[in-house]
Amino acid sequence: MAGKFITLEGIDGAGKSTHHGWLVEHLKARGLDVVATREPGGTPLGEKLRALLLSEPMHQETEALLMFASRKEHLEQVILPALRVGKWVVSDRFSDASYAYQGAGRGMNPAKLELLENWVQEGFKPDLTFVFDVSAEVACQRLAGSGKTADRFETETLDFFRRVRQGYLKRAEKDPNRIRVIDSAQSIEEIQKQLYEIIVTS
Ligand code: ADP
Ligand code: TYD
Repeated sequence: MAGKFITLEGIDGAGKSTHHGWLVEHLKARGLDVVATREPGGTPLGEKLRALLLSEPMHQETEALLMFASRKEHLEQVILPALRVGKWVVSDRFSDASYAYQGAGRGMNPAKLELLENWVQEGFKPDLTFVFDVSAEVACQRLAGSGKTADRFETETLDFFRRVRQGYLKRAEKDPNRIRVIDSAQSIEEIQKQLYEIIVTS
């Protein structure tokens, strides 16, 4: 069976990491060869870029360029080679995050993001994307309760995360076949039931 590329998206605290772990284990239990990965990061160079992106102040376009630099490395070293040999790849974030965070959140011109996407991906897109959708208030409470130290993005304002959330919803509206919005105010069990149904029917 050909491999599939699945990406998980949403504002910080929406539950992506929780469901990423579950989804990877679920697919493995079904006998599939699965590569679990994330962005920014996923390669040795990408992880170095991630450390800079999560800590160093920088211009919003520098931020976008580094996100796509990490993505190019990730695509060439991890994602495309795995898909070519029939593995499934499940990534915690991919380029929808650039449109949502750098575009809707920071206010960067989406035409520039499209330029980068076309350059780096040459038309390549995920087969399936889950957007875990929850209010900025709930996500923020979840993050506060998780005990994790907040990074450069997680210390952004509620308004920033409201814009990012709207950015994701707008992208999902434009591409409803690929992007499935999951109501992440539901319980973890409810969400996993929905993920299961979507995976078995797609
Ligand atoms: P993200 O990766 O999107 O930042 P996480 O998966 O790390 O989010 O979840 C953030 C926190 O919220 C964690 O403590 C997690 O246990 C909790 N959480 C995730 N999903 C839910 C949910 N549906 N209901 C309640 N708490 C949740
Ligand atoms: P993430 O791995 O979700 O953070 P955490 O491990 O704390 O859950 O992502 C790191 C941050 O990078 C997140 O706040 C969103 C941001 N990001 C962008 O702004 N643009 C992008 O293209 C990507 C992939 C991530």
